[in-house]
Amino acid sequence: MSNPTYKIAILSGDGIGPEVMAATLPILNKAGEKFGFKTSITEALVGGCAIDATGSALPDATVNTCKQADAILFGSVGGPKWESLPPTQQPERAALLPLRKIFGLYANLRPAICHKDLIHASPIKNSLIPDGFDVLCMRELTGGIYFGEKKTVAVAHGERSIDTMVYETSEIERITHLAFKAAATRRKKVTLVDKANVLETSVLWRKTVKAIAPQYPDIKLDFIYVDNAAMQVLKNPNQFDVLLCENMFGDILSDELAALTGSLGLLPSASLAEGTFGLYEPSGGTAPDIAGKGIANPIAQILSAALMLRYSFAQEKAALAIENAVRRALAEGYRTGDIYTEGTKKVGTTEMGNAILSFL
Ligand code: IPM
Ligand code: MG
Repeated sequence: MSNPTYKIAILSGDGIGPEVMAATLPILNKAGEKFGFKTSITEALVGGCAIDATGSALPDATVNTCKQADAILFGSVGGPKWESLPPTQQPERAALLPLRKIFGLYANLRPAICHKDLIHASPIKNSLIPDGFDVLCMRELTGGIYFGEKKTVAVAHGERSIDTMVYETSEIERITHLAFKAAATRRKKVTLVDKANVLETSVLWRKTVKAIAPQYPDIKLDFIYVDNAAMQVLKNPNQFDVLLCENMFGDILSDELAALTGSLGLLPSASLAEGTFGLYEPSGGTAPDIAGKGIANPIAQILSAALMLRYSFAQEKAALAIENAVRRALAEGYRTGDIYTEGTKKVGTTEMGNAILSFL
């Protein structure tokens, strides 16, 4: 069989996006050489730089590039320059939300891993996480209150605004299957995060997830109210394996979990559609304060590329090899500024990328 060629839309975006992407592409290439696949990349504008160039955060040309691709590798969007735009035109919202909807990216996987070597960077008391932690936040991404009907109307003494949280059984079912399947490759536990004591949609989530559970007899299922979940992840993140969340709860909890790992610069994410299409992006933002200085941590972007190889291209061995190379670079003491401690090797974006490349 001849080597497959994967078409990848590269949307580097703003801030540190282009730098960390530049450190990632050679790694993707080398993984291809080692594991027998080719990549054909097309770059396209997204976010603030796209607003400056075309007036739109998500130009049609970019959507078309993505439509012709097998997957999207995304950097990050936004920054101070565009913060005064009206909320609906802000790069984050005007680029990411439509991309999720257009491509049906309904399942957002946000692994929050605190490496044993880096527990000092976590704000959690280190005695509580002697071996670090590894929690997978699985967030529903195309439903719920972010996409339900919204409106603002005038009333006697001002305005009244409404956001609507809407879910249908089928939207819950598809992500629930993914959560159980993910748990099967991990510590075999799914925790549904909801607010079933108050919200109708949460009652539907519980009912739907419970009905699916018997299909996965090896997986333990439990339930937690979102307010309690926010507290429990602080007290003992290791009690969780896969956290299954509706859109807004997952948005909030995934940021909390990310903060608990100690560095946003390490966390990748995958947003998956039905089939094999996906968008892969670092969890951290554009980090405008350090953009352009060559010091940003490229690991989240590199690990996002690994997730792309795993989920969109079924190149599990290549994904693992990249993940191992990252682990090795950390174990050998390579550190960008965000995770630096005395006695380790402080490096910039390119050097970190090169170190990982050399261990691949
Ligand atoms: C995220 C972000 C987005 C979201 C914003 C920028 C629209 O917070 O990806 O978590 O709310 O989903
Ligand atoms: Mg968020």
